[in-house]
Amino acid sequence: MAELYEEFERILVDEETIQNKVSELAAKISKDFEGKGSIVLVSILKGSFMFTADLARQLTIPHYIDFMALSSYGSKAISGAVRILLDLRADVYNKHVMIVEDIVDTGNTINYLNTVLQTRKPTSLSTCVLTRKEGKTPDVKVDYLGFEIPDVWVVGYGLDFAERHRTWPFIAELKKEAYEK
Ligand code: PRP
Repeated sequence: MAELYEEFERILVDEETIQNKVSELAAKISKDFEGKGSIVLVSILKGSFMFTADLARQLTIPHYIDFMALSSYGSKAISGAVRILLDLRADVYNKHVMIVEDIVDTGNTINYLNTVLQTRKPTSLSTCVLTRKEGKTPDVKVDYLGFEIPDVWVVGYGLDFAERHRTWPFIAELKKEAYEK
């Protein structure tokens, strides 16, 4: 345990702050969609599994959960190309669809998802994102946002470094030495 903590520069968002924000987001979403029928939460694997689970449990409106998994071709930063590894089970035509993401970094994933899901003609398409890198994607529309974070490598609460650190209940900044070695 102590060994793992040694890779962290600092805790960026602690557990209580995350949970308070999740409650706030869930309350806002519940209010905005009240009386509109079910919404489909599209959880983007793997990163958003924890955020989706916490958020969904606090919604007071009918909802169901579906999953997508995406992958980038080569380096995201360079190509920007994304492909679908796992698609939704259900048709989202005529449904209220909400993309649930743990992070918007370059914005490639969310832009791709918005384009793909819009072609399936949902009644509405919105986005709920826990963290966004500050100032990097001013043109990306996020309807429900948790936190703006600095442009550093973050792990925890679904976010990983080579599959590690995903299940911490907080979000931490990784030390540069940890990913540059
Ligand atoms: C991460 C994250 C987002 C995406 C955001 O997923 O969960 O889906 O990157 O980055 P972008 O804005 O630059 O597109 P990743 O591809 O690391 O997969 P994972 O969730 O399975 O770890």
